[in-house]
Amino acid sequence: MHGRLVGKNLLITGSAGRIGSATARAAISEGASVVLADISGDKLKAFKDTLSSSVKARVHPLIADVTTEAGIISLLDQAVSATGPLTSAVHSAYPTSYGWGSPFEKLRASHLHEDLANQLGGAILFSQHILRHFQAHTGGDLVHISSIQGICSPKFEHYEGTTMTSPIEYSTIKAGVIAMTRWLAKYHSNQNIRVNCVSPGGILDKQDPEFLKRYRSSCTNYGMLSSEQVASAVIFLLSAEAEAINGQNLIVDDGWSL
Ligand SMILES: NC(=O)c1ccc[n+]([C@@H]2O[C@H](COP(=O)([O-])OP(=O)(O)OC[C@H]3O[C@@H](n4cnc5c(N)ncnc54)[C@H](O)[C@@H]3O)[C@@H](O)[C@H]2O)c1
Repeated sequence: MHGRLVGKNLLITGSAGRIGSATARAAISEGASVVLADISGDKLKAFKDTLSSSVKARVHPLIADVTTEAGIISLLDQAVSATGPLTSAVHSAYPTSYGWGSPFEKLRASHLHEDLANQLGGAILFSQHILRHFQAHTGGDLVHISSIQGICSPKFEHYEGTTMTSPIEYSTIKAGVIAMTRWLAKYHSNQNIRVNCVSPGGILDKQDPEFLKRYRSSCTNYGMLSSEQVASAVIFLLSAEAEAINGQNLIVDDGWSL
């Protein structure tokens, strides 16, 4: 078999979502064994059904809630039973509270705390457990997903007159993911461990046409992205081609942030 991830055992959280599933598909075609972890069994099944039978032996769907420590520990145990020691992980789960996306003026403390705990706290806890696993074996590569909202303030003018918004907690969480990535990479020096993140622009998904037009005007060639354009950056960071890249934030935004 050929491919940049042959011999890798890769765990992807949020693997039934937009970026997670595109990353899973790309990783499978690059030869990896892939553990698909997601809280939604229905979405996992629907995704697995799209894969050809020739690759299914290398695909292991697991229902998991990665917002709790017990859920993360149980997921890692089951993943190792399915594939053997993990060499790689992508954290792409996107747990959101009922109040996610509220305007700043209407933000409620309970929703704010839940989203900070689950999205940023969850990313830290997932990192703690997967990196401990890598330490106990021969090392490994971890990729987190941040966002352009973690490196720039939102372009609020793009949302005017639409029901869309970009929440303050999202920018804060995503900036935190970038800081966490640097911290983890340096902390695990000399252990054959790499931690990087990708900051994608928006993924095209039936957004308001007026928003799309304004968003496109800030970009260079495409505007909103496909999940596959993000997945290819994640695969690069997991591959040997990126062996000297550590603690970095790879911006994939068609120039939105320029
Ligand atoms: N979609 C975008 O435009 C975009 C842009 C930049 C960054 N991102 C980031 O990319 C990441 C993935 O986003 P996406 O667009 O693929 O999201 P998505 O909603 O399409 O997928 C997220 C997946 O996570 C799963 N999930 C939710 N809670 C979970 C939990 N507790 N445990 C396990 N799985 C859980 C969901 O079932 C879903 O399948 C997020 O961190 C998001 O902030 C997305």
